[in-house]
Amino acid sequence: MAYLTGLDIGTSGAKAVICDEAGRLLAAATSEYPLSQPRPLWSEQHPADWWRGAQEAVRAAVARSGVAPDQIVGIGLTGQMHGATFLDDADAVIRPAILWNDQRTAEACAEITARVGAERLIAITGNPALTGFQAPKIVWLRAEEPEHFARVARVLLPKDYIRLLLTGEYATDASDAAGTLLLDLRARDYSGEVLDALEIPRAWLPRVYEGPEVTGRLRPQAAEALGLPAGLPVVAGGGDNAAAAVGTGVVRAGVLSSSIGTSGVLFAHSDTPALDPGGRLHGFCHAVPGAYHLMAVTLSAGGAFQWLRNSLRAIAPELSYDHLVALAEAVPPGAEGLLFAPYLTGERTPHLDPLARGAWVGLTSRHSLGHLTRALLEGVVFSLRDGLEIMRGLGVPAQEIRATGGGGKSPFWRQLQADIYGAAVQTLAAEEGPAYGAALLAGVGADVYPGVQEAVAAGVRVAGVTEPDPARVARYNELYAVYTGVYPALRATLHALA
Ligand code: XUL
Repeated sequence: MAYLTGLDIGTSGAKAVICDEAGRLLAAATSEYPLSQPRPLWSEQHPADWWRGAQEAVRAAVARSGVAPDQIVGIGLTGQMHGATFLDDADAVIRPAILWNDQRTAEACAEITARVGAERLIAITGNPALTGFQAPKIVWLRAEEPEHFARVARVLLPKDYIRLLLTGEYATDASDAAGTLLLDLRARDYSGEVLDALEIPRAWLPRVYEGPEVTGRLRPQAAEALGLPAGLPVVAGGGDNAAAAVGTGVVRAGVLSSSIGTSGVLFAHSDTPALDPGGRLHGFCHAVPGAYHLMAVTLSAGGAFQWLRNSLRAIAPELSYDHLVALAEAVPPGAEGLLFAPYLTGERTPHLDPLARGAWVGLTSRHSLGHLTRALLEGVVFSLRDGLEIMRGLGVPAQEIRATGGGGKSPFWRQLQADIYGAAVQTLAAEEGPAYGAALLAGVGADVYPGVQEAVAAGVRVAGVTEPDPARVARYNELYAVYTGVYPALRATLHALA
């Protein structure tokens, strides 16, 4: 029996999984690390923390699995997208890494848009300049920290810095590379036009591989640190969303995932380079060789629910999500005329507006905590439906929608998604997130599976289906039409408040 490892360099910690060649998960382990916000809008991490977390997580997962390390045949990498790790010519880290959720780069985004041209940027890279992406961070460094910029010899995404320590190679995968804003989506390689316009040397960037390709082998020192055999193939892997899509079987046209965690992500596979000319959806390469994906991101999804619960815990310390869901269930769909705009941390899809703010709209003295909760949960799913409607408008087929993350585990969230999307929602037998997808990609690279489709067939199984209720679908269609008017009506007010 051959065994596989997947390693996820996430935002809250590193997670490692061990699975067997039948795709069964044997063990998972997480090692947390801090996130620092040294100034408003800044979000940073120390790459040394990622490395410590990676070692702890892999060692713990291997120990828990009971698998002999020499039976492990490959390791796949995934991680938080878009971050910038700046290295000097001796591969030393120059400053803390700037993360995907950092918002300092508004001016750099405007500069990039001016230099490349707004339409050209979307046509080449699939995306407008968004504050979270990697290229704006490079442009920011040049303007704001010239002493650091002068030392830069390499810029790596988070998981690719760990790859460098593991293998000594500068390499990345196409899905994560697409999140730099420097990739020519069709060529699946960096765009000379964008690099020239931004005066970023190509030599700073790692070579781009397809998700399952082997990018190097575990060096003896790193093997020692991880407790794995030296020479183990390390595959390219994918950005966390693309790797999670592999792990949930979103690897062919017509299949979508709807993930509700802190943020909400609607992810659609596409066989061809799919772009939203309006830039409201992210257009990235997939971790499936030659494939693409479209992605809609609601920044506060489960995060909005967490905010509500945590706020109420100030007076009700025992309050649980289940309490709140029970209150929401007792209220009819539409919360008797109450809507919620879930933009608590600004919004990406569809508004691309870091200054958007949240709101309950339509409050009356009749409304209770149950109404507030129900409206909040409905508002989050309406926001995801905004992404689905853009995809439908672009002709992206949506035959199967898989509910993942916390929103897939909760029956209430699942039914809400089915009713608001007007489509059946599937759940999976097991769902292990990006690290599991990375392990499946490692299996392809290590020749355990002939391709990604076979890896998914081995490991991913649909376990349940939640059907939409026709009466609620009709009701939510009416309410969605009202919801779409909320942001335009409030925009100026929200901006004034922000
Ligand atoms: C995707 C994105 C996040 C990060 C962090 O565009 O910003 O999903 O990958 O997980």
